[in-house]
Order: sequence, then structure tokens, then C-alpha cells
Amino acid sequence: MEKNPHKDSDRDTRAIFISKVQELAYEMKVEQVMTPNAVSVPPEMRMDDLRILMQKERISGVPVVTGGAVQGLVSIEDLMNYLASDEKGRTVAEKMSKKVTTVFKDDPLTRAVNLFDMTGFGRFPVVDRGTGKLAGVITKGDIVKGFLKRLEVEYHEEEIHRYRASHFFEDIVADKATLTFHYGVKGGDFAKAGRASSGLKKTLSRLGIKPEVIRRVAIASYEAEMNMVIYSKGGRLSAEVTPEIIKVTATDVGPGIPDVEKAMQPGYSTASPWVREMGFGAGMGLPNIKKCSDHMVVNSVVGTGTTVEFIIGV
Ligand SMILES: Nc1ncnc2c1ncn2[C@@H]1O[C@H](COP(=O)(O)OP(=O)(O)OP(=O)(O)O)[C@@H](O)[C@H]1O
Ligand SMILES: [Mg+2]
Repeated sequence: MEKNPHKDSDRDTRAIFISKVQELAYEMKVEQVMTPNAVSVPPEMRMDDLRILMQKERISGVPVVTGGAVQGLVSIEDLMNYLASDEKGRTVAEKMSKKVTTVFKDDPLTRAVNLFDMTGFGRFPVVDRGTGKLAGVITKGDIVKGFLKRLEVEYHEEEIHRYRASHFFEDIVADKATLTFHYGVKGGDFAKAGRASSGLKKTLSRLGIKPEVIRRVAIASYEAEMNMVIYSKGGRLSAEVTPEIIKVTATDVGPGIPDVEKAMQPGYSTASPWVREMGFGAGMGLPNIKKCSDHMVVNSVVGTGTTVEFIIGV
């Protein structure tokens, strides 16, 4: 379910953040964030030389490689254990961990994220699936940096969209101009519930509409959309935007409301127990739409459908 714009709790914000991160983790590949040409060492290297190398490079783990193929991994922990023992002159091959978890260059980031969670390791060698050779190293830090960079790029792109769109009406030469947007709403589809109103919200913000106005439209549209999802067989959310007003119409194909006046009363609800369990059914949706808008009408014919229309000045 998409974010409910008037229940801005931590839980909702976190859910949105997690899903954005999850989306990125599926979309992005390991090679987009890994450190390529990472330092690696041969198995015959002495542990004492490795110590100098790790100090110099400020790294906490190194893949051990012969002919490009990963043989093992020495971590700072392996090095410390060696230093704490009274052993002398050992090679990397003797002290490395031979059971190494590797990831492929073209793995989705989500695989690396899961492996970090499951194993508790700090880094994985990255291998080219084609050649079987070491291609780089990935750490949790690389993933965080990669996400932040990507989010920054997306944010910047969004800003550009917003700038272009906010000048849209100025460029139109007409006595009257109206932009119309339609969004389909499926009855009973809770997984997609909120999609229409959040799409409209995004569009309005791209058009450069004032945030207070967008917030009112978003709340009222969300209520209308949820009612269509919960109580109707589905329909359409449409918005007409002019330089002066935004008119939103939510039309569904039934079953209709027997007593509109009653439905408009705060606290009146026919929500089933399981709908109430999901946090709906306070009977505040329609009153909320009225409160958010400058003008509202509900028309309903039992057996035909319901139309909720509201106007908000921009
Ligand atoms: N599109 C619709 N089709 C059929 N019945 C509807 C529709 N919209 C609202 N209703 C009826 O009107 C009642 C009141 O709606 P309202 O949105 O005010 O409250 P609610 O949906 O029950 O609870 P809340 O919105 O607080 O979660 C609903 O319980 C339902 O019986
Ligand atoms: Mg409702």
C-alpha cells in the first residue's frame, strides 16, 4: 500500500525509505558500487609483509589471488590472531580463511545486502562470472555510498522535471487552459491502494503547485481513492488543473451509497472488521474530504455508482 499522506508517522516514512532502498537494491548491480582494482595479495606473501600493506592501504581485509582466481581472504582479525600468537614467518596461505563468500559483478545488490546480513562479514571479493577472476571488492560502505549517489542523481532529475513543469502554464497561449490527469483505481486491490493519489501528488508537485495545496489535494484524493478500493468495484480518479483551481473527481461503478447524508456524518462507517484491523473505518474519510476542499459534492445512485467531486483553489 502506498503512503497515507495524513498519517505521517515514523512507521510510514520508514516503510517508504525501506521500499526505495529495496527497489534500488534490486535495480543496481554489484559492479556499480564495488571498488574495482582492489588490492589483492598472492598466497606466498608473508603475514608480516601483509601487516605493512594493510596498514599502508588502511584496509581491513584482502583477497588472496593466484592467476586472478580468488583462493581465500585474510581479514584484519586473521592478522591480529597471528600477531597475538608466537608464530613467526607464516605465509598468507597458511592464515587466510579458505571458505570465502564471493559475489558476482552482475549480481543484484540485494544479494550482497542479504549476504552481509547473513554472514556478518565486512567485505566480499567480487568475481567476474565469465572469467572467474577477481573484479573488485564490495563493503557495506560501498553500498551506502552507491545508494546515496543514486538517490542524489534521482533527486536532481526530479528537481529538473519540477522546474520545467512549473513553467508549463506560462508557456501556453490560450484564453483558457486545463490539464487533465486520469488514474485507474481497482476495487479491493489493497496492494496498489494509494497509487492514484500519490501519482497525482507527484504530478502536482512537478507542476509547481504550492505545497499546502498539494497536501490538501493529496489527503482528499487519498480518502476518495481508499473508499473506492474498500467499498466499490473500482473506478477512476481524475484531476483537472487550471491556473486557478484543481478539481478532482472520483467516479466508481457501484454499488453506490444508499444514504449519502448519513455517509457524510463523521464517525459513520460500514467497514468490516478486517478493514478496521487495517486502520480504516473511523468514518472520517468523507468528512476529511469536505474539510480539505473549498467545495465538495457527492452523487450516488445505488446499483450504478458514486461520484465524489471536490475543488481546491490553487
Ligand atoms: N465509493 C463508495 N462506494 C460505496 N460506499 C462508500 C463509498 N465511499 C464511502 N462509502 C460509504 O460511506 C461510509 C463512510 O465513508 P468514510 O470515508 O467517511 O468513512 P470510512 O471509509 O468508513 O472510514 P475512514 O475513511 O475513516 O477509514 C463508508 O463506511 C461506506 O459505507
Ligand atoms: Mg473512507
